Amino acid sequence: MSEIFRFEDVKKLYPVQKKQLLDVIFRRKIPDVRALEHVNLSLDEGKILAVVGESGSGKSTMGKIVATIETISGGKLFFEGKEVNPGNIREVRRNVSMVFQNPSTSINPRMRIKELVSEPLGKFDEKAVRDVLNSVGLDYDDSKDKQPREFSGGQVQRIAIARALIKDPKLLVLDEPTSALDESIQAQMLNLLISLQKKNKLTYIFITHNIGVAKYISDEIIVIYAGEIVEYGDTRKIIETPKHPYTQLLINSIPSFKSKTVASPVGDVPSLINPPEGCRFHSRCPFVMEICKGREPPYIDVNGVKVKCWLYGENGN
Ligand SMILES: Nc1ncnc2c1ncn2[C@@H]1O[C@H](COP(=O)(O)OP(=O)(O)O)[C@@H](O)[C@H]1O
Ligand code: SF4
Ligand SMILES: [Mg+2]
Repeated sequence: MSEIFRFEDVKKLYPVQKKQLLDVIFRRKIPDVRALEHVNLSLDEGKILAVVGESGSGKSTMGKIVATIETISGGKLFFEGKEVNPGNIREVRRNVSMVFQNPSTSINPRMRIKELVSEPLGKFDEKAVRDVLNSVGLDYDDSKDKQPREFSGGQVQRIAIARALIKDPKLLVLDEPTSALDESIQAQMLNLLISLQKKNKLTYIFITHNIGVAKYISDEIIVIYAGEIVEYGDTRKIIETPKHPYTQLLINSIPSFKSKTVASPVGDVPSLINPPEGCRFHSRCPFVMEICKGREPPYIDVNGVKVKCWLYGENGN
């Protein structure tokens, strides 16, 4: 199986605010939001990778970097073995599509469905639009001249997926594709995505705050906390024997498999402008030790799963 993309020590910083003229004159340093740091990962073709974490942890940023909507501030990004650069970025974009977090804001409400779905092609191709709408369970003749507001939330999400699929991409980034939907249609949407992935031999990056959904859909999981990966590996291993205390808390908080809302661990994700020293999770961790407050834990391989925690390796057990 071949690798579709890879991150090597990727970092993403956002300026907290845009530089004003006075900042330039007085050379004021604008602090950064450290949205992602030390990110190393790779994904093989045909796999589903779930990116799991609370709101504000850097999940969407990771997805946007893969879709080349955001640039990186450090490290390297590879697509099919080649480092992404200005010379090949169009090729990458042809092969990667993203379905955004909130379809009702990412989709132009004034466009008709046939225009919306064909827009990424740059031209209208009736057969392509008909086929792709059909593949997501919508009838072309019924929907082509309608606007998004004439559809339900679930149908709008199907339209957003059709729009992402029309270029026949290899990799699809799905940013919380079911979280805005009613519980009753979430499972339907997940099953549609699974069948599209098999039929079109797609690779998915599936972003979700619900580890129960990740368990259902993915082959591999990345658990991300305050801009860093804390646990990364095979889905079954992570769900059955979670190693990182944060992953354990997320799993314990799955109320029921189908539930839409997940009770988060106590407390909030820390500020990414000034992340805590040492382990970023230490203020919320039930197992916190002295070392955790002062020294950043390294990544340790535990039974094939990468874990960033002082409980493991030489200093742990
Ligand atoms: N364009 C931006 N400018 C400044 N800060 C941003 C921008 N986009 C995201 N952030 C910040 O980066 C962090 C991670 O955000 P995001 O990737 O959207 O997290 P998630 O998808 O996990 O909720 C947050 O602190 C967020 O406020
Ligand atoms: S390094 Fe320490 S504070 Fe961080 S998760 Fe592990 S035990 Fe908890
Ligand atoms: Mg997000």
